[in-house]
Amino acid sequence: MSYECILTELRGSGERKTGLITLNRPKQLNALNDQLMDELGQALLAFDADDGVGCIVLTGSERAFAAGADIPTMAPHDFMSAFKTGLISKNWETILQVRKPVIAAVGGFALGGGCELAMMCDFIIAADSAKFGQPEIKLGIIPGAGGTQRLPRAVGKSKAMDLLLTARMMDAAEAESAGLVARVVPADKLLDEALAAAETINGFSAPSVALIKELVHQAFQGPLSDGVKIERRYFHALFGTADQREGMDAFMNKRKPEFKHR
Ligand code: HXC
Repeated sequence: MSYECILTELRGSGERKTGLITLNRPKQLNALNDQLMDELGQALLAFDADDGVGCIVLTGSERAFAAGADIPTMAPHDFMSAFKTGLISKNWETILQVRKPVIAAVGGFALGGGCELAMMCDFIIAADSAKFGQPEIKLGIIPGAGGTQRLPRAVGKSKAMDLLLTARMMDAAEAESAGLVARVVPADKLLDEALAAAETINGFSAPSVALIKELVHQAFQGPLSDGVKIERRYFHALFGTADQREGMDAFMNKRKPEFKHR
């Protein structure tokens, strides 16, 4: 499959690979137009359906993960055209259907829709050059892809309000201490670190990986008691898998496990 606004490739040395997606509109700092989001949606679903892929890494360029939704394409809309067309591609939500982990490797600007896209990934590894922000208020609009909802869940109400209302950018160190980012690495190591994390995950049993992802998402959707109950059921269910027997047998016999399930 060939795309115009993204690049896709398989990476990794193990039996299961990492699907690497690179946002590729460098002149526009990877501004997210409909074509890019449609291509991203297709690429994510293709990697998700590929049994040879364990994990997905989503990245941009050194200068920008993505500087937001494409402003010139949004500018001509009025309320009725925005309302009737939906304004942004329905593929903005496609990433939420992916069952495999999606790691955001963020260098440079992650602003507006770029920050929202990174927050839809399962976790963020940031370069020390990364800058996060929701500057929509400067354009006379508000976030439209979850920024007002996911940012306060990630960094708490006060910092989210500060970022959303003042439009200031937050650097990587602040983003890490606020909990938006899992870890910060030197910019020239960003992709290597994200791919190494993906490779570690690729070595584990696929049902364990998929269920952990599903349950952590559940933690943000419903009541604690429901989440804990579902977790216990899935915990029991994994005792029906060969990988549980392999993992525990390997531990007890002091050897490396070889997981089979994809
Ligand atoms: C289209 C963009 C863009 C964007 C940058 N560019 N951001 N094009 N949409 N969101 C283009 C610039 O027009 C410019 O093109 C080129 O990228 C380089 O940008 P510069 O401004 O020259 O670079 P710099 O001075 O380094 O400033 C970088 C920046 C600034 C701080 C990131 O570009 C900026 O503030 N961009 C807008 C950020 C923003 O407001 N994002 C939120 C968008 S609204 P030319 O052709 O002039 O060289 C949004 C809503 C989401 O995301 C709704 C849900 C999807």
